[in-house]
Amino acid sequence: MNASTSGNVQPADGTSFWVYILVGIVCAIGSIVCYNIYFHPLAKFPGPKSYAASAIPVALAQLGGRFHLFTQAAHEKYGSIVRISPNELSIISAGAWDDVYARRLKNPPLVRDPTFFNDMLVDPRTLTMADDTNHIRLRKSMNSAFSARALAEQEPILKENVDLFMDKLEERAQQGLETDLRSWYNYATFDLIGDFAFGESFRCLESSQYHEWVQFVLDHFYVATLLQVVHRFRPLNKLLAMLLPASLIEKKEAHHRMALDKVRRRVQRDTKRLDFISYMLKTLDTGTITLDELENQASIIILAGSETTAVALTFATYFLLVNPQIMDRLLEELHSNFENEGQIDVLSINKLNYLQAVIQETLRIAPPITNGFPRQVPPEGAMIDGHFVPGGSVVNISHWSAYRSASHFSKPNEFCPERWLGDSLFEGDTKDAFQPFSVGPRNCIGKKFANDSMKMTLAKTVWRFKMKLAINTEEWLRDMPSFVSLHQPPLLVSLEPRKPPSSD
Ligand SMILES: *[C@@H]1O[C@H](CO)[C@@H](O)[C@H](O)[C@H]1NC(C)=O
Ligand SMILES: *[C@@H]1O[C@H](CO)[C@@H](O)[C@H](O)[C@H]1NC(C)=O
Repeated sequence: MNASTSGNVQPADGTSFWVYILVGIVCAIGSIVCYNIYFHPLAKFPGPKSYAASAIPVALAQLGGRFHLFTQAAHEKYGSIVRISPNELSIISAGAWDDVYARRLKNPPLVRDPTFFNDMLVDPRTLTMADDTNHIRLRKSMNSAFSARALAEQEPILKENVDLFMDKLEERAQQGLETDLRSWYNYATFDLIGDFAFGESFRCLESSQYHEWVQFVLDHFYVATLLQVVHRFRPLNKLLAMLLPASLIEKKEAHHRMALDKVRRRVQRDTKRLDFISYMLKTLDTGTITLDELENQASIIILAGSETTAVALTFATYFLLVNPQIMDRLLEELHSNFENEGQIDVLSINKLNYLQAVIQETLRIAPPITNGFPRQVPPEGAMIDGHFVPGGSVVNISHWSAYRSASHFSKPNEFCPERWLGDSLFEGDTKDAFQPFSVGPRNCIGKKFANDSMKMTLAKTVWRFKMKLAINTEEWLRDMPSFVSLHQPPLLVSLEPRKPPSSD
């Protein structure tokens, strides 16, 4: 068939019809692209033309787990505000934090971008997914469970879990086994936060493997990313979402039921145990929230609090091991403050400045949430860090790009805890650009919990073990994609119990 010859003589083969359709499609795409680049309300913002033209470059970067590098490269070339897809701006200046996430001069905060917050993984009734009105009520009722007093009362739960983690590592050290700390930190943080929020541990540490529920969560972060990418291509998103296998939806529901069962068991157990549920039951009594809502919050707490903390611990350990002088300084601080491991508790670790600086620097150089949570600008537009951004646009602050930018931090790619300790070398750092727990009414509710548990786990691990990396250190860092640690390379170490300081 020579369909490629001109269509004027053989109308019957339909060639000309398809040529018209094709030309029509090409013209339509061409005019959309042309509009996006030159006439779109965001056209005046800097950025690569290909990013302005369509959402395809962003989508590909997201699917490849390179979204953080993609935004970072754009910021390095175009400055602190960049158009990274037709309707989206990424901003990294310190002044933008409040404008994007907090209250703006009597105006309510920007609403969350519906594209990003799809309800694949988490129920629409959870704190993260709730609209702003419900959010205020839920957040208020949950604050009591995360107050300093509550956390102090919950310290036994933290201690019990970290001590079990220590014992398990000790067993492995004695058997001379190499240990993938990335997985083990995940076991520890999931167990801890399960114990806190569901009233029962996942027993990952005991079984030395991921609990089924945890495995599901880790696997489905990726599905959530996929969905988010799909949502960029409205109205095609409905069609694409239908292609999700039914088995996945079933699994999601089973997962949800299991979480509810756990919470119900805990609620029915009459116990004096102080955990998340015990505080929430008090708000339940006042009628501020319903039982159904309470049940739904437990899962979101686990999602938000486990893997993120494990990623931070993994990186903190890595950077300590590749910088022996920093490790030595941390040990020195621990040894001059404690005589034995049993003295390490929440009150005392929070007085350790060097430990605090190590944690801060870890969250800067490897933020567990690499990309920010997007917000939508209201119809009338908004001022963001001195720029007028038109209504309907999506804005975001990329933690990774902001923290790795030489315009904010000197030696941005080096691990230097001293920068948080007043070292004159880092005087010019824009410290306000660093907001790992975000700002405003929807910032991280569990930041003190995270702070305490990271410090406790890291301090005890470093106290107890001499660790040696059994990986190619440069490859490890290079192979680290931005999404969840399950897809990240293992952090293999050999462990050797350290002699207590008094005996050497
Ligand atoms: C973590 O703890 C330290 C020491 O108490 C404190 O200065 C810091 O602000 C805390 N960080 C967060 C995010 O709560
Ligand atoms: C904001 O971050 C999310 C990931 O957390 C990403 O999917 C989205 O595309 C980002 N948007 C912008 C404008 O950077």
